[in-house]
Amino acid sequence: SEKQRLVVVSNRVGPLSDEGKAGGLAVGLADALRRRGGLWFGWSGETTKDGTAGEASRETVGEVELVTIDMTEEELAGFYLGYANRALWPLLHYRLDLVHFDREADRVYRAVNARVAERLKQFLRDDDIVWVHDYHFFYLGNELRKQGFTGRLGFFLHIPFSPPEMFAALPGANDMVRAMLAYDLVGFQTATDRRNFANYAKHELDGQKQPDDRIRVGNRTITAKVFPIGIDAEGFAEFARSGEAEEHAAMLRSNVGRSLPIVGVDRLDYSKGIIERLLGFERLLEQYPDRVGGVQFLQVAPLSRSEVEEYVDLRGEFEGLVGRINGRFATLDWTPVHIMTTGLTRRALAGIYRAARVCMVTPLRDGMNLVAKEFVAAQDEADPGVLVLSRFAGARAELGEALIVNPYATDHVANAIERALRMSLEERQRRWRAMRDKVFANTAADWCRAFLDALEAAEPDGGVEA
Ligand code: G6P
Repeated sequence: SEKQRLVVVSNRVGPLSDEGKAGGLAVGLADALRRRGGLWFGWSGETTKDGTAGEASRETVGEVELVTIDMTEEELAGFYLGYANRALWPLLHYRLDLVHFDREADRVYRAVNARVAERLKQFLRDDDIVWVHDYHFFYLGNELRKQGFTGRLGFFLHIPFSPPEMFAALPGANDMVRAMLAYDLVGFQTATDRRNFANYAKHELDGQKQPDDRIRVGNRTITAKVFPIGIDAEGFAEFARSGEAEEHAAMLRSNVGRSLPIVGVDRLDYSKGIIERLLGFERLLEQYPDRVGGVQFLQVAPLSRSEVEEYVDLRGEFEGLVGRINGRFATLDWTPVHIMTTGLTRRALAGIYRAARVCMVTPLRDGMNLVAKEFVAAQDEADPGVLVLSRFAGARAELGEALIVNPYATDHVANAIERALRMSLEERQRRWRAMRDKVFANTAADWCRAFLDALEAAEPDGGVEA
């Protein structure tokens, strides 16, 4: 039978190519969509006077049709900067201390969700499968139902869902979760995220847990399930063997000289634990003086959301700390920490991962973290590097053979780095093989298929409250 068309909605659209910097969402989705084909709808990344009311631009890349609309400065400020990234992002990453609730931003966020639904509806056929992504669009499904769409409607949250007691701090939290009931299927990265959501529905909205991952609230029943996202493991392993990767691996090696290279790669974001990891590295140099001159830490940290105050503050703190560590330990021919805020291509990154002896993935909270999976996919069996992984990354659920750390425990992080540096080849290979098997067994394509199968299996009821 003819496959139904897949329509994907996310704030960021593309790139479908291998270039440029991209968050986990774009990486996972681009691979999934490249394989299946369909329509991908979202923001152009541009601001114009007409914003979401302006002309949509359309572009076809292989089997994928990209349709994007602009935003006005006001829409961008309220929807993206103000609400998605100053209220929802910190809230869902367990950072109530960084949250800013702003009534106007809340209004604009809801209005943009409604507007995007209205614009998307013009492109929809009745039998499309619509799959909405991430915290920018909690209300979008409900708005699509109001526009009369009755087909399959799914939602996947790429970031964590905070515990109910914390989520309840959001003004309008009930509105948001009720709006989510318009989706037939809601997907989460980990069992913890799913449980947090289900418990919110249960305790705050009098919901009932039902068999087969279903939750009933009032007269709406939805399915809430766990779908850990993956990467195109084969493709990324191939990147790591490319000429461009080789060149970057060679550059890294010549740059560190006789030191062992330790790397971190993250958007410069407070959820990533970059500060905590640097403190751990500094502690290593204090506690293990033999390592002074013998290791070099490279942090690649492309700037992200630089218009948001908390990100500006983080940048200052990051640069200050790097300066302090370098000032404290550098010698004439050795600098302990090297940072880069410019983006690298994915091939270049793959080369850097391959040349690294240790990779530090130490988020304080992270939905999944695809750097961890990409690092694993990029290794060479003959001499694999060691992954140091936060217990608070979603990837922890699958990659238990990494050296698992609590990023807040500075001594623990320092000891883990030391242990990674000392680890025998045999142990590195044993741990790496176990992780490789899992990274290759659950790819972005598998994730996509699992979600869409579940969406097809979820009872469709047109999403309308009876
Ligand atoms: C995370 C989010 C994505 C987001 C990405 C980059 O991965 O889950 O939705 O696109 O960060 O952030 P940005 O604000 O630049 O889109």
